[in-house]
Amino acid sequence: TSLLILNGPNLNLLGTRQPEIYGATTLADIEDMCRAHARETNVSIGFEQSNHEGALVEAIHGARGSHDGIILNAGAYTHTSIALMDAISSVELPVVELHLSNVHAREEFRHKSYIARVAVGVICGFGAAGYPLAMDALISYLHMSK
Ligand code: DQA
Repeated sequence: TSLLILNGPNLNLLGTRQPEIYGATTLADIEDMCRAHARETNVSIGFEQSNHEGALVEAIHGARGSHDGIILNAGAYTHTSIALMDAISSVELPVVELHLSNVHAREEFRHKSYIARVAVGVICGFGAAGYPLAMDALISYLHMSK
């Protein structure tokens, strides 16, 4: 089993970016956490970040054939990107939508998600701990759908 963990715009700044909202953990720390959790759960992972919508579209395309599912924290593109939604529909891989913050407790414009329409489920509000939670959620989804 192989999972792609894909991170969108501004998540490269985690640790210094609005730590009161997103926490002090850096994206490198999160990657380490995910790699440790992958070893514990016996899966392999890819871990990527881009600030560019088109690069994220291509990462989703590229996941077909090399990964069994995707964990996607699309950052602000969550709320705007029909292109990312269409990319997910096109590859027919299960996607778990992830956010560090509880987007529903924040501004109205963060309540709408294009990703959620095509995701198997959503995890938000648990900070960095959401990453291993999302891995567990996707792994159990993949087992159920076998
Ligand atoms: C985020 C929530 C988004 O609304 C925001 O634009 C982000 C981060 C999160 O992980 O909480 O960039 O996806």
